[in-house]
Amino acid sequence: MYFDSLGAALVRTNELDWIGDGINGGIKMLRISSETGWFAALIKGRAGQVNPPHTHIGPACFYVIEGGFDYRGGSARAGDWVWEPAGAVHPATSHPVDTIYLANVFGPVLLHDKDGKEPAVLDWRSSQAMVDRAKNPNGARIKRPQGYFDPLNAALVRTNELEWIDDGIGNQIKILRINKETGYFHILIKAPAGQVNPPHTHLGPADFYVLEGGFDYRGGSARAGDWVYEPTGAVHDATTHPMDTLYIANVYGPVAFHKPDGSIASILDWRSLQALADRTASTR
Ligand SMILES: [Fe+2]
Ligand SMILES: [Fe+2]
Repeated sequence: MYFDSLGAALVRTNELDWIGDGINGGIKMLRISSETGWFAALIKGRAGQVNPPHTHIGPACFYVIEGGFDYRGGSARAGDWVWEPAGAVHPATSHPVDTIYLANVFGPVLLHDKDGKEPAVLDWRSSQAMVDRAKNPNGARIKRPQGYFDPLNAALVRTNELEWIDDGIGNQIKILRINKETGYFHILIKAPAGQVNPPHTHLGPADFYVLEGGFDYRGGSARAGDWVYEPTGAVHDATTHPMDTLYIANVYGPVAFHKPDGSIASILDWRSLQALADRTASTR
């Protein structure tokens, strides 16, 4: 069965109503993620509409479907695609004609007042509040959490209270967090002296911090106190552990382990790690 939709979505935008955000001619919210803070929307600008100055805290990209807007980067018209890096500061954006564009926003946008101060925050939370108000106009107004505490999916993991589990290739691991939305996973790894991890390719970036011992890999010899970053696509020969080693691994995508001929033997990803966690839980 090659189908498991997870959180996949097919949004028929033509069947959505435009809702008001107080600035634009209308919004069709396509997806909001509290996990990543990303949101995707179709946005309608009216001819003559001016959006206030703002700062893109996360990057964003836009595709103009109809009309266009004039902004600091130029005049974007139908068919144009715009990328804004994290931190981009924009003066007012104007719409000389009726405009529809697709927005993929990978972090909050701060809307500034005339002085450039006192920003209002446009983020996944305010986007969700807008959708909730549109669905239930007479419902309780959604406020930011009182008391300045809303943990969402925050975690405090007491690793000393977790049991080691066997990862199947000779290491012991403690799984700290598995993220189905992003595919990220965070683990503590204990490798015995002499442990050899097979050649592998990092299909997403990863970083490591050596707590005890160390490992020898293509990038050098990492020892206690060393921090290692691997970019997406990094191809590694076997990694060896000359001594008992303890390190933390933050892994932002799958790792493909290779057979001697270079083909893929197995994939370590959030799903295989979750399966390992589930198997372990069922036998304890
Ligand atoms: Fe902008
Ligand atoms: Fe590696």
